[in-house]
Amino acid sequence: MKLYCSIVHVCSGALHLASVWALPAPQVSSASNVQPDGPSGASGFLRGPSSLLGYNPSIPVPTEPSTVIPPSEFELAPGQSENAELGLYIDLSEVENPQPIRGGTVGPTDPGPRTFAYDRLNSDLFIPPGTDAGDMTNAKWPFGLSHNRHGLAGAGWARQQNIDELPVATAMAGVNMRLSPNAYRELHWHKSAEWALMLNGSVRIGAVNEEGQNFVDDLTAGDVWFFPPGVPHSIQAFENGCEFLLVFNDGAFSEDETFLVSELFERNPESVIAKNFRTSVSALKNLPTGQLWIFPGTPAPKDIQEQNVTGPAGFLPVIDSYSYHLSQQVPYEVPGGSIKVIDPTTFPIASTFSAALVTVQPGGMREMHWHTTSDEWTYFLAGSGRLTVYQAPASSRTFDFTAGDVGYVPMPNAHYLENTGSVPLVFLEVLQAPKFSDISVGQWLGLTAPQIVKDHLNVDDNFVSQLPKTKQIIMPGDKNLTQTNFSSEPL
Ligand SMILES: *[C@@H]1O[C@H](CO)[C@@H](O)[C@H](O)[C@H]1NC(C)=O
Ligand SMILES: *[C@@H]1O[C@H](CO)[C@@H](O)[C@H](O)[C@H]1NC(C)=O
Ligand SMILES: *[C@@H]1O[C@H](CO)[C@@H](O)[C@H](O)[C@H]1NC(C)=O
Ligand SMILES: *[C@@H]1O[C@H](CO)[C@@H](O)[C@H](O)[C@H]1NC(C)=O
Repeated sequence: MKLYCSIVHVCSGALHLASVWALPAPQVSSASNVQPDGPSGASGFLRGPSSLLGYNPSIPVPTEPSTVIPPSEFELAPGQSENAELGLYIDLSEVENPQPIRGGTVGPTDPGPRTFAYDRLNSDLFIPPGTDAGDMTNAKWPFGLSHNRHGLAGAGWARQQNIDELPVATAMAGVNMRLSPNAYRELHWHKSAEWALMLNGSVRIGAVNEEGQNFVDDLTAGDVWFFPPGVPHSIQAFENGCEFLLVFNDGAFSEDETFLVSELFERNPESVIAKNFRTSVSALKNLPTGQLWIFPGTPAPKDIQEQNVTGPAGFLPVIDSYSYHLSQQVPYEVPGGSIKVIDPTTFPIASTFSAALVTVQPGGMREMHWHTTSDEWTYFLAGSGRLTVYQAPASSRTFDFTAGDVGYVPMPNAHYLENTGSVPLVFLEVLQAPKFSDISVGQWLGLTAPQIVKDHLNVDDNFVSQLPKTKQIIMPGDKNLTQTNFSSEPL
């Protein structure tokens, strides 16, 4: 029998809960429960009598309502009753009253109260694979749980993830920002380096560096920009608005603490500003008060030349460009998906940002790997996937991600990313490294003498003969996530 349950657990079987919290028999006043001064209409006492403390033979023996949910009141998803060590992905999206059972048909049920949406989005936390062990710092932050700061007059918004949200993420922080049509992210600068991926729409960016070289460019969804620490820049949406993702090389970065041109003018003596700009203070009477941050703008001219203000130092040399048109890069295709790598090899100004935009087809998996020089900051653009972090000694934990989530894996923890949905999984891996690189577990063992591999893992000749000598990057898989025999799949 299926029960009707709303998002918050109010299954009929749990309705007795309400009565537990109802007031028992009237209680008399004692030294500890004095009737407080309260609003008119108030009755009773704020505290109970001292006779409730500890064992008291005159207190009625508790009745024992069952907290066990009978099997007739829930259903199991495919894979839930399979051996826990298989760690199959459990898709709870269609399950009415999900229960934390793995490796059988009975187990420790959860009578609630609870919010089913969390269980469905995080089935690997709710029903961990039997291989998960030990303690592990949280590796997931959904931007949907971040405070969304709104700009002026509906001009946009931004929400951030830094060490306040995800303490493990010490090397990088992220911001998800939206600009309404023609809106600006005001002229500003900051202590951290900024690397960005356009998520939607198109934008004009501009900057001026220490040499007096200027830079302007127009970018669209899939393109990347970078601004070095301290270099002042501006961002303006074109007429259809835009959304982008910013990554900073400091886990403590805060979007609320950037240096703004509005504040620069507001926080210096007006006489000094007049002297600096060879003007009179009366020319400054309409300066903005308070931060502009994100605010409405006048439409940018389509012809970029109209906003290309070049001085004697000229335009920023191409080799130092602050943008890379990644949307135009042809992805590297492999069985199971595709990948675009962008690192200082081709985008030199972003000297420590190495990234990969990865697409994994349903059933496929970014192969087991780790990074040797950097933590990994991950953003999920589309689909759903899961990742297990293995960290010595003896710890691992599995996390589930959907579009709009941030993931973080400290170096050199091993991990993979498996597509757990029916649509392509698209995610961005960002490292603080001069080159995008990893150690592939498959390649490592493939380049180790078969005898050594066999002595360690007790695998047969067939296993070692199939080990790859190159990185596979993405492993193809079966859309059926309860499948466990892949030996017929081509490598
Ligand atoms: C961009 O935004 C539009 C309008 O909301 C939406 O339909 C589209 O799916 C978005 N594109 C991407 C790549 O997110
Ligand atoms: C800006 O003008 C300079 C000098 O005329 C030119 O070299 C550069 O290509 C222009 N940049 C753009 C984006 O048009
Ligand atoms: C998925 O694969 C398992 C194991 O081979 C099989 O028992 C199950 O029927 C398959 N499910 C579907 C929907 O094909
Ligand atoms: C796995 O599948 C292959 C190809 O279908 C088959 O030859 C092999 O016997 C299977 N192995 C196991 C352990 O079921």
